[in-house]
Amino acid sequence: MIIKSAEYLISNVDWQKCPTPNLPEYAFIGRSNVGKSSLINMLANNEKLAKTSGTPGKTQLINHFLINQAWYLVDLPGYGFAKVSQSQRRSWEQMIENYLRKRENLVNVFVLIDSRHTPQKLDIDFINQLGEWQIPFSLVFTKADKNTQAETSRNIKAFLNKLRETWEFLPAHFVTSTVKKTGRDAILSMIDEMNTE
Ligand code: GTP
Ligand code: MG
Repeated sequence: MIIKSAEYLISNVDWQKCPTPNLPEYAFIGRSNVGKSSLINMLANNEKLAKTSGTPGKTQLINHFLINQAWYLVDLPGYGFAKVSQSQRRSWEQMIENYLRKRENLVNVFVLIDSRHTPQKLDIDFINQLGEWQIPFSLVFTKADKNTQAETSRNIKAFLNKLRETWEFLPAHFVTSTVKKTGRDAILSMIDEMNTE
């Protein structure tokens, strides 16, 4: 897919204030600092589209971007961000849950996992929660440039094996690096396919 246009539309705390749900929508989620905003920028071919930061907790709202005048990309706040109050965290979680469960044009959620680490309970729990809510998702293993290929593969394999404990079928998965610019075409192709379904 060729990206002809990518524009920022709006940021919300309330899913009901999000743009009219008349176009297919794809959301990016994962723990704080995993690389959601960076990945959106790589996909859109625009380094300045979504705000990124070395400090976790940068994205705090539901951010909508319109791509090719045809579909929405959504940047969400990270889960598991420790440096906020309990009540702040709860309100983020509620915001994300409402958005994920109620947004009617949401086609697929991309769950980002840091490929540097062995399987983390927080990520597995979140994925199992998506399953309970029956929300379609794919996995994206990020920051593949930070490890050797062998180590990245080992972590991915371990993660998928962990998922096999609770899931009969495994979701599609992608491996990305915004430094090496890898994984972009595969994700865009999948979105392209889902857009035409
Ligand atoms: P929050 O909005 O805080 O939840 O974070 P986020 O998931 O949006 O992460 P963001 O895109 O802001 O990136 C966090 C940090 O990771 C930044 O310093 C990025 O430059 C870095 N980063 C993101 N993707 C990659 C990658 O593929 N490789 C490397 N080496 N660094 C990355
Ligand atoms: Mg972000």
